[in-house]
Amino acid sequence: MKRIVVGIIGCGEFAEFQHFPNCLSNPQVELGAICDLSQERLEYISGKFNLSGVFQTTDYNEIFTRPDINLVIVATNHSVHLELVEQAAKHGKHILIEKPMAMTKQESRRILRLVKDSGIKLCVDYNRPMSPSMQELKRELDRQRTSPVVSPWRTTRGDNFPKLYEENATNLVITINDEIESYRTVHLDPQRGGGQIIGESCHFLDLACWLIGSRPVRIYATGSTRLNHGILLDFADGSIANILFSVCGTFDYPKERYELTAGGNLFLNEFFVETEIYGRGEPSICTYPLQYDEVEQDIGSGFAGYMEKRALAQKQAENGKMPLLMPDKGHRQLLSAFVEAILEDKPSPVDEFRGARATYLSRLAIKSIRTGLPLPVQQEELELFIN
Ligand SMILES: NC(=O)c1ccc[n+]([C@@H]2O[C@H](COP(=O)([O-])OP(=O)(O)OC[C@H]3O[C@@H](n4cnc5c(N)ncnc54)[C@H](O)[C@@H]3O)[C@@H](O)[C@H]2O)c1
Repeated sequence: MKRIVVGIIGCGEFAEFQHFPNCLSNPQVELGAICDLSQERLEYISGKFNLSGVFQTTDYNEIFTRPDINLVIVATNHSVHLELVEQAAKHGKHILIEKPMAMTKQESRRILRLVKDSGIKLCVDYNRPMSPSMQELKRELDRQRTSPVVSPWRTTRGDNFPKLYEENATNLVITINDEIESYRTVHLDPQRGGGQIIGESCHFLDLACWLIGSRPVRIYATGSTRLNHGILLDFADGSIANILFSVCGTFDYPKERYELTAGGNLFLNEFFVETEIYGRGEPSICTYPLQYDEVEQDIGSGFAGYMEKRALAQKQAENGKMPLLMPDKGHRQLLSAFVEAILEDKPSPVDEFRGARATYLSRLAIKSIRTGLPLPVQQEELELFIN
């Protein structure tokens, strides 16, 4: 079996729960080197994952100059992304970079240029579309668009009521119930974190474009540029995505909920553990296993099962550490798809243009809040031309 050798730069919380376990469990990946500015963090990660034989450094240059490394995974703060892509391009290393790929349009353009000139592959960790629950939802949504199935009891319209263009829309509501106490101040730092539109809603803007599959044409955002906000995104086919991001919520309820209506159906994705489809006769309900399940009790699956486990985990937390429960948001699948793209010289599953689109839309949303105006999404900014 072909394998690639990976270096991980940035051994923080996210890398601890995703990149390290995902690399170590992937048969096509060999972990060749790890880097963090903090020696303490390196020692902690090395101990936790038993990496004493793996090269470790606090200087990222030593990762890029190692001839054995094919792919560098970057999970630092966003502010160093550009300089790390510059190094990857200079040394011919492929790069999997955390979201957001860039903080500004200028940084995105520089990254596109670097990737094009060097011929490396870049993948942005916009993982949600790769989760098993979203993959299935998208398959069913596409099926409904091409061969609609509706409930036998659905009302039949009168003969004088023609089909209207608005009926081809896919309308999406994304509700984010976040808990501000879980944040660190870096999230709000304008240089290193950029606030929750740049740092978090970039995920949902990317997902909305992927699910709806039409060109975004206009954006209107309201609220705060760093915390609570609402974003409305209009698409060329008349679809609308509505993202409501609140930091005033509680993790006693799951953080993410996705609701779509299209072609006479309603699709509901509950925190990647359950997808429900209504409007085709009896409701169809599919459930998905968690990525991490430390409750280890065989209770029901899906949303109800998750909520029951959550209640048990909270009880156990009263006597010490809360067991980890994490839905499958597609990080492992994205890593596997990118590794395959490198080994088989195929396009990146989430390339630099998609990274640039999410940053552009996030920046436009911020501008809309600052000006109080709806703003057009420029087609040439979505289809950037790098000669
Ligand atoms: N895709 C997702 O769903 C998702 C979820 C959470 C976080 N993230 C992203 O992961 C990234 C890291 O987030 P986190 O919560 O782990 O942050 P963190 O602060 O816990 O970890 C960042 C680590 O990077 C290290 N670092 C910073 N600059 C460095 C440099 N120049 N060289 C080497 N190491 C350096 C820091 O010392 C720290 O240990 C962020 O970009 C965040 O947006 C993605």
